[in-house]
Amino acid sequence: MGSENIKKIKIFDTTLRDGEQSPGASMNTLEKLNLARQLARLGVDVIEAGFPIASDGDFEAVKAIAEEIKGVEIAGLARANEKDIYRAYSAVKYSEKPVIHTFIATSDLHLKYKLKMSREELYEKAINMVRYAKSFVENIEFSAEDASRTDSDFLYKVIEGVIEAGATTVNIPDTVGYATPFEFFNFIKNIKDKVKGIENVILSVHCHNDLGLAVANSLSAILAGANQVECTINGIGERAGNAALEEIVMALDVRKDIYNAITNINTSEIYRSSQLLTHITGISVQPNKAIVGKNAFAHEAGIHQDGVLKEKTTYEIMTPERVGRQSNDLVLGKHSGKHAFKEKLESLGYLLNDKEIEDAFVKFKALSDRKKEIYDEDIDSLVAKSHSFEKYELKYVNVVCGDTVTPLSMVKVMVDGELKHNSSCGNGPVDAAINAIEKIVTSKAKVIGYEVKSIRGTTEAQGDVSITIEENGVNITGRSAHTDIVVASAKAYVNALNKLYVHNSNIKKSSQINVYGDL
Ligand code: KIV
Ligand code: ZN
Repeated sequence: MGSENIKKIKIFDTTLRDGEQSPGASMNTLEKLNLARQLARLGVDVIEAGFPIASDGDFEAVKAIAEEIKGVEIAGLARANEKDIYRAYSAVKYSEKPVIHTFIATSDLHLKYKLKMSREELYEKAINMVRYAKSFVENIEFSAEDASRTDSDFLYKVIEGVIEAGATTVNIPDTVGYATPFEFFNFIKNIKDKVKGIENVILSVHCHNDLGLAVANSLSAILAGANQVECTINGIGERAGNAALEEIVMALDVRKDIYNAITNINTSEIYRSSQLLTHITGISVQPNKAIVGKNAFAHEAGIHQDGVLKEKTTYEIMTPERVGRQSNDLVLGKHSGKHAFKEKLESLGYLLNDKEIEDAFVKFKALSDRKKEIYDEDIDSLVAKSHSFEKYELKYVNVVCGDTVTPLSMVKVMVDGELKHNSSCGNGPVDAAINAIEKIVTSKAKVIGYEVKSIRGTTEAQGDVSITIEENGVNITGRSAHTDIVVASAKAYVNALNKLYVHNSNIKKSSQINVYGDL
């Protein structure tokens, strides 16, 4: 294939919006900002930074990202109504490349049961709201929610209408992950062939993974003529998630012979982006996950190991380095100074202000007193968590345990500036520490998940702990790392409680808006 025909595919990252709708994935503003900085380094074309009407926290995060991140389009989601659109505009207007992304469902199923509207009413609404959004910014994305289950002729009519009204991107979501690759190819090809004006806009797809087909469907759409894909890091998102950015990008990269398409993505930033998201949300990827899973480049079988040693390409279709997985040998330690630490932070993609660097350096020094070699992953664990607000702060934890005693803990926690202490026994030292903290805090949240793993190395390594708590159907994951896993567990629990507190405050402030309900 001649290089003159190579197609440019826009990568629209929705980790901070659809991704954040994953159970347990909620992030605070600083965490979102950190991730947005990394997405910019990764080279995504559009960052969907959030759903500004959903909560004050969402609004603040979109605004902060719009203010700071340059060179990338920043989108804010809005239902097709004036209030949502104005709120989205008020947050994205600080960006040099603002986008209002407005959506409304077009399938008869949604019209009848959810929206209780006729097709004619919906058509008018979609067009009027695109016009309204266009009065604020030039770039408008329109999504026909549940497009893959919408009557084709009606969908064509809606798309033609919104293009005429000023939409610059038309997005075709497979909202419930129902489509199959061949069917979706034809669906997109027909839109490309039959809709008037489609050649003048970006044709985008947004696939969910309910049948495990999100990436396959997105790639089929690219073959059929789509020029933007919406995706998330690690494939996180509503229910079974969205199409995984790293899988789409590497499929296009490794199989250029098939797709003849390029993206702006700097593939060597993929692994770092995946790791950062995991650190922030506490949601790990499965070991066998393509591209970013622990085993994605591990060769276990003797025949495979032998082959790879003789010639890598026998069993490797891409190098780990291509996705940024080289083992970085520049390991820091006790004697590393602030200059080396700062350079390391920069090489890892952390753009921190002086105060943040100072805070991270203090934590780094404390860690290097307990641990000889500090790896990149350790540094991620030091800086990935940053909070604008901490209701609870763990001040002290002490546990007595052993094979002949009942584990007993004593903890001290600062609650709104007041030091409180309590003690408890438990099934093991971690349980005892969590029980004692539970007695201090006011939250009624229940611990529903616990995971611990080591960050590189062996018994001297930091234990990386994730704790998921649940309250009123909301799951929040907290995470922390420490060379003492009881301390890491207590901190992870406190981290989850702080995130839940911020989440609940935002819900209260957001004037009871039912974000995914009616219009
Ligand atoms: O899945 C979906 O339909 C969405 C839209 C808001 C684009 O997330
Ligand atoms: Zn979605």
